[in-house]
This record gives sequence, C-alpha cells and structure tokens, in this order.
Amino acid sequence: MPKHIPVSKAQRERLIQAAHEAFKNAYAPYSKFRVGAAVLTAAGDVFTGCNVENASYGMSNCAERTAIFSAISQAGPKLEISAIAVANDHDAPCSPCGACRQVIYEFGPEATVFFRGVKGWTKLPIAKLLPEGFRLK
Ligand code: THU
Repeated sequence: MPKHIPVSKAQRERLIQAAHEAFKNAYAPYSKFRVGAAVLTAAGDVFTGCNVENASYGMSNCAERTAIFSAISQAGPKLEISAIAVANDHDAPCSPCGACRQVIYEFGPEATVFFRGVKGWTKLPIAKLLPEGFRLK
C-alpha cells in the first residue's frame, strides 16, 4: 500500500461535510450532476470547490480542480494537500477523474482521498488511484 497522510475522524467528517456544502454552488446545467470537493492542507486549512460546466462541454472544470486552484490562489504555491473529499448530489459512486488525480498528485503525492465508491465512502491514497504519478520535482 502506498504511503498516505493519516486523517483523524474529525478531520474526515469536516472534509466530507464541507464537500457536501460545496456542491450547492455547482454550475451543472448539462449533466445535472453537482459535485463538491474539500481540500485539507498541511497547514490545517480547508478549501472547497464545485464543478463548473460550459456549453462547450470540454471546458467544464471538475470540483476537485476548482478546489485545488482556489486553494493555491488563496494560500499560495507552497500549499501541500493532506487530504481531499469529493461528494455529489446523487450520492453516486464518483472517484476523481484522471486529470484531477494528476492535479491532486502535484500538490499532495501522499494525499488521502475520500470519495463515494460502489460500496459507499471509500478512502484511498492518491498514489493508489494514480500509480507512477508524474512529477518534475
Ligand atoms: N465531475 C466532477 O466534478 N468530479 C468528479 O470527480 C467526476 C465528475 C463533474 C464533471 C461534470 O461537470 C459532471 O461531474 C458530470 O461528469
């Protein structure tokens, strides 16, 4: 099992709650699938984001990347991700897409990821979701 940062039960609950709050702001008129993400940083701060779709479908941004880009823009480039939680308004299985896995890995190669899997809430290290992740540093 790859290394991952331990997350307390309280932190996990806080993150999942924040991810649920975050999907309320989603702009998802095309898929009608609202997603929220909450990032826990090494400094202990939480940043959230939602999916933002576009009439040109490929321009849509997932909740995870919105949360991470928002976190960097507010806290700066040294930010490290300890954990991220992803929730959706259907309580449907929804793990981060490939692009988001790569972005999570950039800022948290040992991050813990909470998402809804086929059997409900699931916890996996990002390095398990993205084996041999690419980094330049
Ligand atoms: N989506 C996310 O925001 N995060 C995921 O982990 C999976 C999918 C969004 C993209 C799109 O706006 C909608 O969900 C349907 O795919």
